[in-house]
Amino acid sequence: MKRKQTTVALLGLLAFGWACSGSPENQQDTPQQATETEQSVSTSSVSRSDFGKMEDGTVVDLYTLTNENGTELKITNYGAVITSLKVADKNDSLEDVVLGFENLEGYLQKGVPYFGAIVGRYGNRIANAQFVLDGQTYKLAANDGPNHLHGGVKGFDKVLWQAESFEGEEGIGVKLRHLSKDGEEGYPGNLTVDVTYTLTDDDAVKIDYKATTDKATVVNLTNHAYFNLSGDLGEKILDHEVMINADRFVPVNQTLIPTGELKPVEGTPFDFTNPTEVGARIDANDQQIGYGKGYDHCWVLNGAAGEMNLAATVHHPESGRFMEVHTTEPGIQFYTGNFLDGSLSGKGSTYGHRTGFCLETEHYPDSPNQKGFPPVTLRPGETYHTQTTYKFSVKE
Ligand code: GLA
Repeated sequence: MKRKQTTVALLGLLAFGWACSGSPENQQDTPQQATETEQSVSTSSVSRSDFGKMEDGTVVDLYTLTNENGTELKITNYGAVITSLKVADKNDSLEDVVLGFENLEGYLQKGVPYFGAIVGRYGNRIANAQFVLDGQTYKLAANDGPNHLHGGVKGFDKVLWQAESFEGEEGIGVKLRHLSKDGEEGYPGNLTVDVTYTLTDDDAVKIDYKATTDKATVVNLTNHAYFNLSGDLGEKILDHEVMINADRFVPVNQTLIPTGELKPVEGTPFDFTNPTEVGARIDANDQQIGYGKGYDHCWVLNGAAGEMNLAATVHHPESGRFMEVHTTEPGIQFYTGNFLDGSLSGKGSTYGHRTGFCLETEHYPDSPNQKGFPPVTLRPGETYHTQTTYKFSVKE
């Protein structure tokens, strides 16, 4: 596909030395320099534009990454959010497959449920908003009933990250950094977080997560993209066929806190070992389905811990779009947008009940309080490092 491209913007974007590519001499990033100059070449491209201003006047970035196939990924440094992802269907038509907004204002609204954001310091729930580490009790915000969810009141999804783009061996991308101070949202330790998004020329979105700390703490980072492969973001996702590479899942109580067991999926509505329509059993008369108001559970992934394993696949038969998820994480939260209620709209669509699904790769919920779960403690001198890939293609 012949492509229009922007190059000058790339040269103007280097803000600090830890970027992967580009030349230092073009460090000043003046807005007009950030606007595009059009050149018609057929290569991948990355550009920066203004996404809006924070209340204090700080300009927020929007990075647009386009690969050789025309696949386009948009990322803002507000919450390190994926705001848009356009991938081809079986007719080679590029459409947006993630829920979100066209501008910053959309994300600054009250009650935006983490659309496309990096969540942390601890993604998912922590029971009773507290945990004990090395004999010390840490109290967190109870922002989900009695429990703590997704890092608290002002989690990583609501902070401005430092950001810069790069062109690397594997593709084009954006590297984002957030320094989460000791005590932020009640967590111990100054945590330096680096998240790198790479868009490859074979239509994979790679997310690399790294973190280091100066005090023992807990970390569980993930991306909270809501996908809808139909390309019509107002449509329900019940016709999508999902496979989750997991023989067990993590059952929960009424407030979605794990009971501590790991339960076999066989014979339950949670068995996605074979591709199955999301809607087939989502309203089954089942206690766990009832607690989740549908699917809102963590699956225990098959495969060796820490290795890049196939976690899930999703196929939308009508469009032909196919997504494969690989991760080094031991779990994946499959959430079918049960809390979406049509009160939010963006990009020309109204986000009603179950119009998006999330596949949040992670350690299990409430692991700081669950001795039997894989540990989530990070200590000084250690590096937290996980990787997840969402790869897109077409399957007839
Ligand atoms: C996660 C949780 C859901 C919900 C969403 C955000 O996916 O598991 O219960 O809170 O985040 O709304």
